[in-house]
Amino acid sequence: MITVIDGPAGSGKSSTARAVADRLEIEYLDSGALYRAITLLYLQAHRNETAFFQLLHQKEISFCYRDQQFHIEIDGTPVTDHIRTPRVAEYVSKVASMPNVRAFVNRLMRKAVDDGVYIAEGRDLGTAVFPDAELKFYMSADIEERARRRYEERKPDNPGLTLEEVKQNIEQRDHSDASRKADPLKKAEDAIPIDTTNLSFEQQVDQICLHITN
Ligand code: CDP
Repeated sequence: MITVIDGPAGSGKSSTARAVADRLEIEYLDSGALYRAITLLYLQAHRNETAFFQLLHQKEISFCYRDQQFHIEIDGTPVTDHIRTPRVAEYVSKVASMPNVRAFVNRLMRKAVDDGVYIAEGRDLGTAVFPDAELKFYMSADIEERARRRYEERKPDNPGLTLEEVKQNIEQRDHSDASRKADPLKKAEDAIPIDTTNLSFEQQVDQICLHITN
């Protein structure tokens, strides 16, 4: 059984999905975090695609949701603390636009949800990865609000960061995620839209929990 939430950066998908997972005691899957972890390998390969794909096929990527955090390990080494840097944010959409990378991540995710009750979030889960998901949501919010949220979230760990930089990165990723050929960011026809611009966090979580438990 799987519920999916798709939507652009800063729309509230991750925090909402985590809170739903905790309240309903189900598993949580963060597809963006997987793309980010794989971006670390791309940077480790000095952006050389041949070396990158070699690394990708040599390494073992494992993940789980524990203590309110989605943990990822590459060959047994935790990488969760390294995937939210501005450098990863700069390259992740490029890496995620590679069809081989998408096929790789989709296989990882489908295998994980084979046995379990999951809430998963990303960009193309309702359209491409889990088109038969029992419940689909599409979360959105104004760009100003999304940039503000992301800035508040990242500022403590990135002292030099500015709101304008965050907004530019989100706009660039929105553009490249929505215009890529392979599985672009798009609302599934049967997804329930949730505009979070003026919703409180509790309201978002309540709405989704209500649908799942009804
Ligand atoms: O947390 P935030 O919304 O900033 O992004 P994320 O969920 O961590 O995803 C990072 C990037 O991975 C996105 O900007 C997309 O380029 C890519 N992504 C994707 O292509 N497909 C997904 N299902 C999830 C993420």
